[in-house]
Amino acid sequence: MAGKVVIGADHGAFELKEKIIGHLKSKGFSVKNMGVDTPDSVDYPDIAGITCREYLTGEYEFGIVCCGTGIGISISANKIDGIRCALVQNIFAAEMSKVHNNANFIAFGGRIDYPDSVTDMVDAFIDADFEGGRHLRRVDKIMALEK
Ligand code: RB5
Repeated sequence: MAGKVVIGADHGAFELKEKIIGHLKSKGFSVKNMGVDTPDSVDYPDIAGITCREYLTGEYEFGIVCCGTGIGISISANKIDGIRCALVQNIFAAEMSKVHNNANFIAFGGRIDYPDSVTDMVDAFIDADFEGGRHLRRVDKIMALEK
């Protein structure tokens, strides 16, 4: 059975967020929407903060953050201990962000023209498995950088 996903977006990606939420629900995921749901301007670090802190409660399989480019909100998410947020650009990167980096968040830009559909990228991430082995050593070294 599909698990729980937490998602947040700034005004630059609230429509994309709605599309992703619909897709995840159609796949059976339970989705916690941290907003925003209107085009009114907000600051993406605030959305990254509330979305990542909700993820860190431990209830969620993974998280998604979106802003206009995905850049600001992914940078912000990666400032929070425990978060490995991948700003993915295509299906291959989405898959590899799990296989090699064991990302627990993926980020997208609502104003970006991707070569692949965002929902296909989300599916590639969901369907991939972390390979472990030498990649675990590297992910452990990523996390050690927090100290
Ligand atoms: C907001 O205008 C915009 O700067 C934000 O959505 C994002 O693209 C920043 O990285």
